[in-house]
Amino acid sequence: MCGILAYVGDRNAFRTLMDGLKSIAYRGYDSCGIALADGERLTIAKTVGPWESLEPRSTELVDIPARSGIAHTRWATHGEPSDVNAHPHLDCNARFAIAHNGIIENYGAVRRDLIQSGHKFCSATDSEVIVHLIEQFVEDGLEVEAAVRAAAQQLVGAYAFVVLDRESPTEVYGVRHDCPLIVGRSDEGSFLTSDVAAIVDYCDEAIILDNQQMAIISQDDVVTVALTGEPVTCSSTRVDWTKGQAQRSGYPHFMLKEIHEQPDTVQQLLSARLNDRGETVFPEIDEILPANLNKIVVVACGTASYVCAYAKLVLEQMTGLPVLAEVGSEFRYRRNFLDPSTLLVAISQSGETADTIASLRLAKEAGAPTVSFVNVMGTTIARESDRVIQTLGGPEAAVPSTKVFMNQLVSALLVSIHLGRRLGSLPKSDRTATDLRTLPSAVRECLRLEGVIEKIALTYSNRDSWFVIGRGLDEPLAREAALKLKEVAYVHAESLPAGELKHGPIALVEAEMPVLAIVTQPHLRTKMANNIQEVAARRGALIVLASMSDEAIDEASTEVVMLPSISAYLDPILVSVPLQLLSYHIAVLRGASIDYPRNLAKSVTVE
Ligand code: M6R
Repeated sequence: MCGILAYVGDRNAFRTLMDGLKSIAYRGYDSCGIALADGERLTIAKTVGPWESLEPRSTELVDIPARSGIAHTRWATHGEPSDVNAHPHLDCNARFAIAHNGIIENYGAVRRDLIQSGHKFCSATDSEVIVHLIEQFVEDGLEVEAAVRAAAQQLVGAYAFVVLDRESPTEVYGVRHDCPLIVGRSDEGSFLTSDVAAIVDYCDEAIILDNQQMAIISQDDVVTVALTGEPVTCSSTRVDWTKGQAQRSGYPHFMLKEIHEQPDTVQQLLSARLNDRGETVFPEIDEILPANLNKIVVVACGTASYVCAYAKLVLEQMTGLPVLAEVGSEFRYRRNFLDPSTLLVAISQSGETADTIASLRLAKEAGAPTVSFVNVMGTTIARESDRVIQTLGGPEAAVPSTKVFMNQLVSALLVSIHLGRRLGSLPKSDRTATDLRTLPSAVRECLRLEGVIEKIALTYSNRDSWFVIGRGLDEPLAREAALKLKEVAYVHAESLPAGELKHGPIALVEAEMPVLAIVTQPHLRTKMANNIQEVAARRGALIVLASMSDEAIDEASTEVVMLPSISAYLDPILVSVPLQLLSYHIAVLRGASIDYPRNLAKSVTVE
């Protein structure tokens, strides 16, 4: 939430920062801004809207001979999206500019004190206190570096911020505490950023700062210190994402590109985790599995929490252990039953979701071994888990998660097989590992159904209310379908275990109301057929995604899309493709902002 970027080097600072902002637009896009230091003054440009909103000022800004600057793309927490609340924020004398990601919890008290000392605030943000604190400490006689550290030590909350100094434009300061901050070095200069995506064009290696650390970057150097002032040595991590992966490559939207990448991203994951002998390879799990393992807790938020729901059912089936599927924002505030014989699995694309991090920390406190499925390496969840399983989806630029969701599901299935085999609870005859090899080609087949899905989208794009129903392993997919319809197409959609429809929600079903039904589970087919009949009897418009044909279902339905079928464990994974395509095409027809839906951000670093 909120993207930050800083640059010092020999390139044009405005162009470099704008390119970087574009790559991290998914972090928040209600407003944006840039500050440039040319050795004489700071020039600030900030506005409501995404990074493109700065383009009208580009002819003026690109001519400023600045070789350093900071930039920000915002997801508002304190203060509505407005020009004045956009970052960077300045101190009273326009000497320092800061850009911040996170929340300063004690900003009210700090602000009151600073106002009493004569500081003038311009915005309604929590962030502005940071720059006035730095100004105050410099006025009190500290050197700038010490003032930045002292300011950070006054703050309570989660933050990463970067500081530009008019008087010393050859250096930029960055501080991290509970929000990501990454340092990149290249021949063309140095960077600080919240996301590695902003620097993949320039840097092969990155340093990921730890909490309570600060970096001072200059064109040729990076110095890292603790907030206490002692030097710290940080190791670097390879940046293995490429520029091409982070581009739209001819697709109208990142979301569509990422949906179409799924055969390749799944293949990549399978190649890493399934060897030629059909063995699953998870040394990370083998290393930490307690001998007395007696339950598993899988925790995440949003789309990733539906992976938990799928994982629960598969893990229970394959391991014979009880498995709890939890939403981070709830789990962290109640009795959790975590102990050293519990395995906690945290799932997160961004690796920075605040509620998932909090749940992970509870597990650590309770002595439970932790493993995370993370797509972005070097992030907080990856660093704080005992072991990390990379989901290998590559950079996902669209805010709506698609290819990483699929790789999370596949990871969950692979881990279930692995644990089932280790615990001896998975029958030797189980063929799921072999079946998985056919998944990439089946995903390709699903993608060929795009024309059919587009027609359905055209018929139903004007409907504002949907139900999505499924049973068993299809139920988590129904939840994901409803979320995608909401977040991408801005259509109200509610998901239900199909058997629940008649306990109340069916009161809303009337002629032509779209009800999307997912039918992939052979043992639940007849039950689904009954639920579908109940909707048909109320003249609802039934759109069925099915892995098997069924006369009763065919007769009652308005549209039936037959999907390729592999097995009961794998078919729900395949369903995610038409679900993604449906919400995408409805969103196109409704003119929604697909890659950057309103009010959302890709990385939810606040509670
Ligand atoms: O980065 P995470 O996987 O931890 O994010 C969790 C959710 O915020 C995320 O899945 C969200 O629901 C997306 N909008 C899904 O498309």
